[in-house]
Amino acid sequence: MTRNAGPGLGFEESLLFEQSRPGRRGAETPRSDVPAVDAAALLGDALRKRAPELPEVSEVEVVRHFTRLSTWNAAIDLNLYPLGSCTMKYNPKLNERVARLPGFAQAHPLSPESNTQGLLELCWRLERLLAEISGMDRVTLQPAAGAQGELAGIMMIRAYFDQRGEKRHKVLAPDSAHGTNPASAALNGYEVVTVPSGEDGILHPDALARVMDEDVAALMITNPNTLGLFEEHIVELCELVHARGGLVYGDGANLNALLGVARPGDMGIDVMHFNLHKTFSTPHGGGGPGAGPVGLTTALAPYMPRPVVEKTAEGRYAFDFDRPHSIGRLHGYHGNVGMLIRAYCYILTLGAEGLRRCAEMAVLNANYLLERLRPAYHVPIDRPVMHECVISDRALADTGVSTLDVAKRLIDHGYHPPTIYFPLIVAGAMMIEPTESESQEGLDRFADALLAIAREARDDPETVRSAPHHTRHRRLDETRAARRPILRWRPGSSSN
Ligand SMILES: Cc1ncc(COP(=O)(O)O)c(C=O)c1O
Repeated sequence: MTRNAGPGLGFEESLLFEQSRPGRRGAETPRSDVPAVDAAALLGDALRKRAPELPEVSEVEVVRHFTRLSTWNAAIDLNLYPLGSCTMKYNPKLNERVARLPGFAQAHPLSPESNTQGLLELCWRLERLLAEISGMDRVTLQPAAGAQGELAGIMMIRAYFDQRGEKRHKVLAPDSAHGTNPASAALNGYEVVTVPSGEDGILHPDALARVMDEDVAALMITNPNTLGLFEEHIVELCELVHARGGLVYGDGANLNALLGVARPGDMGIDVMHFNLHKTFSTPHGGGGPGAGPVGLTTALAPYMPRPVVEKTAEGRYAFDFDRPHSIGRLHGYHGNVGMLIRAYCYILTLGAEGLRRCAEMAVLNANYLLERLRPAYHVPIDRPVMHECVISDRALADTGVSTLDVAKRLIDHGYHPPTIYFPLIVAGAMMIEPTESESQEGLDRFADALLAIAREARDDPETVRSAPHHTRHRRLDETRAARRPILRWRPGSSSN
């Protein structure tokens, strides 16, 4: 069901998308000053019979069309974007500028090493910076996303045990784990065993000890976890796994909460991924490219994906392919270099102190928000949080308003909804990550919107249950939208 055109736009539906009119032009080409040729004689059958069906539009219509489309979307450049576990923080425009420098942006992926020394040096330096930040020995920059980083990490763990002739069949993961954790282990042929978290939302050594044995290749653990809680027993958990010969995979997707304060490598993590497209500011989601480098200990270094950028004795940078135990290549050419450049720029811009301040602000902001929301929403695990907080719809149960309704109503207030119904261990969860880039005023505006919705749930629940009201489309059939997405407008289609 289509409703409004977007903020302040009351155009008729048909005018909104189809702008083309025969003969309309946005550009003029100079009159040809070369003699006309007989195109048919020259091209024969290759001459097209019909003009291409291109939109015929004036410049002003093109500009208005795309500006209008941009207003139908939620964006971090417009507002706080509370999608928990996704760290939708502001991306400094300087990073974009640096990634577009011609020496980087126009480097051909097949250029010889001698022509791309700057880019290779950046990769080499970024590896060292990430290793320093995380306390790991080496880092591979190849994986294209967090999930692929997990896959790479578990592949390295499998290669490590294969090399030692050890047959281990299980991977452990807490019940709060992100879905990609068990998926990466299962893709590598491991049986996934879920370990229950305690009442306090974190993993306890006694629960781990009950399932840990010599058949376990690894524990996969996210820290801070998806409830936004620091896994306080992490050192003891790692020791327990190591004592039985296993390895620990650290899901580092939430590293923005630890930057400059604590390092996974120092806690006993053997292998971990970074989400450059979250922690180091490049956008997450939206279908754009990402990068999920993986940090590892020296024991796993022989299995790193190849090639690896090394510095030669002469001070040159070169790809090292000669890695006989490598798990192989995971990405073409240099990986998603645009993301690597942005992350490098972000790290250098902030420096060590700035990165630490990121973590401090991320934690402060999440706790501030939690305190503001507490009067109206249920807080399932009532402890200080790290970078994100989880609330639920339990306090609204008597109004008939659910988490989904609150999320939809937030859209009317101009916000993208938070992550909902995850983590799975909290019924009706709303997982909110304000990130470090929000000001107190921004946090207050967002909290005020959620508090207003809770009040409205009591005074006028139907308005919340039937939200959103101010969007181009009302509630979608979420299953069909996911299974049969219509991602492209076609002439004559009614669904714009
Ligand atoms: C905890 C956690 N692990 C893994 C991932 C997977 O990362 P990606 O989306 O880059 O594949 C995410 C994504 O947000 C995450 O939040």
